[in-house]
Amino acid sequence: MAKSKYEYVKSFEVEDEVMQPNLIIVRIEGCNFERFSDIHDLEKPNDEKALALMNSCAAAVLEEYPDIVFSYGFNDEYSFVFKRKTKFYQRRASKMMSLIVSFFSSVYATKWKEFFPLKKMKCPLSFLARVVCCASLEVLQAYLAWRQSECHIRNLYNTCLWMLLKSGKSAKEAVEVLEGTQKQEKNELLFQQFGINYRMLPEIFRQGSCIFMTQAEDVVKHDEHGIPIKRMRRKPRMIHNEHIAGRNFWNGQQYLLMELGPFDNEIKKIKAEYVRSFLFENKLMPSTWIVIRIDGCHFHRFSEVHEFEKPNDRQALNLMNSCAVAVLEEFKDIVFSYGVSDEYSFVLSKDSKCYQRQASQIVSVIVSFFSSAYVMKWKDFFPFKELKYPPSFDGRAVCYPSTEILQDYLAWRQVDCHINNQYNTCFWMLVKSGKSKSEAQSYLKGTQTREKNELLIRQFNIDYNTLPIMFLRGSSVFRIKGEDSVMPEDGTFEEVKQEIILSHSNIIEDSFWKEHPSILC
Ligand code: GTP
Ligand code: MG
Repeated sequence: MAKSKYEYVKSFEVEDEVMQPNLIIVRIEGCNFERFSDIHDLEKPNDEKALALMNSCAAAVLEEYPDIVFSYGFNDEYSFVFKRKTKFYQRRASKMMSLIVSFFSSVYATKWKEFFPLKKMKCPLSFLARVVCCASLEVLQAYLAWRQSECHIRNLYNTCLWMLLKSGKSAKEAVEVLEGTQKQEKNELLFQQFGINYRMLPEIFRQGSCIFMTQAEDVVKHDEHGIPIKRMRRKPRMIHNEHIAGRNFWNGQQYLLMELGPFDNEIKKIKAEYVRSFLFENKLMPSTWIVIRIDGCHFHRFSEVHEFEKPNDRQALNLMNSCAVAVLEEFKDIVFSYGVSDEYSFVLSKDSKCYQRQASQIVSVIVSFFSSAYVMKWKDFFPFKELKYPPSFDGRAVCYPSTEILQDYLAWRQVDCHINNQYNTCFWMLVKSGKSKSEAQSYLKGTQTREKNELLIRQFNIDYNTLPIMFLRGSSVFRIKGEDSVMPEDGTFEEVKQEIILSHSNIIEDSFWKEHPSILC
């Protein structure tokens, strides 16, 4: 297909492949989970149903992505470990991280009603995610030991804190009682004041949960004599174990030995420099425009399965736009966004301090919020269509050093929208008129814009420029301030929320930006 003069903006995208032999972990944790937990009245300090929902989502991740061989989670976090030799998305960190966090969020919103049939999910839950690289198996072992010790420390603290609160202490008083206390003292406090033996609390609270793949025999069918026919199948298995980083546990799991290898020694002390490496984050360059572009994963299939109209499904696009509006409402640093087909680009202001400009945090929180919103809003846009499986989106962050280059980036996406839409309109008209897909393809090969417009007029009596403006130009969602808030009379703008506008304007032309100088100021 034709290339536009704006293609050069692609060169600002950076490579982020995790080189061999590093082992790759993707860790996710609930963003503002305390607020989500309050809104949904979850039990404190542990809600068994919420934990079961987290575990069920993690098992779904392992089934969806066969390269993930081990996972460990507690509270609102989960870590996913890829097999040593994974080639998943060419080991590109942002792709791997964003797909996992998006899928997890989307499954979480889908499964919510299974675990909380009497509670409505009131707002999307998003997750922060990061990629942790482990240079050796020993480092992975230290990582797992570190996370499990965090589980223990936090759970003991929270159990004490909530018992004190429930016994009538104020938050301030409870924190003061616990300040500086050691493990032993907390255990004693629980036992003496509340008659609780900490070791008798459920394992899932104290030890967290591991889910990993096993090979198990499965009955697939019965033959004509009623004898079961069995096959080996990968199956996620969940267990709670006190020492997931111990040799005893790890070296006893065949599948882990095969895909990752054995632990040679026991961990005595977690090295501080390892923990520092687990916390390391890349920061995006200061004073540059940050664009987060998300794109539906395998939406070709998703749109087939859900019978979207071809080439454009108005409701599917409206759903994407509605999610973008929700994203702008949630993240105040986003000044502009542009969407077409299954993708959306979100522009953060140049001086944004959002998550200290840490790339994976910004990407993950936006992509997971969007995915969760997509699932939650599905019924509003498709009341008669069931969502057959949870969708996922990938995400990336790119910095653009000047406003001109940012505008070229946005122009690139809108030109792409035009090129694709015109091609697809012709293609599907030819197919609907009786041509096979390959005939339609060769018919259109090498044709220019003008020829395609003529084809539409001549053969199908369609004036391309009179098609719905959302199909021609895509959609922009942005904030509007002060003097910019005058609406054009041609109906290309619609105020969807106070100060948030949905428009189908031409953003390639300078005039759009001149008319609305405050957007990118
Ligand atoms: P990856 O993004 O690489 O995972 O592949 P993809 O299948 O999502 O393809 P891509 O993102 O390149 O393109 C988006 C695809 O989504 C289009 O090719 C269409 O097949 C489908 N799609 C998006 N919007 C619509 C729509 O409104 N109607 C229909 N029928 N299909 C759509
Ligand atoms: Mg896609």
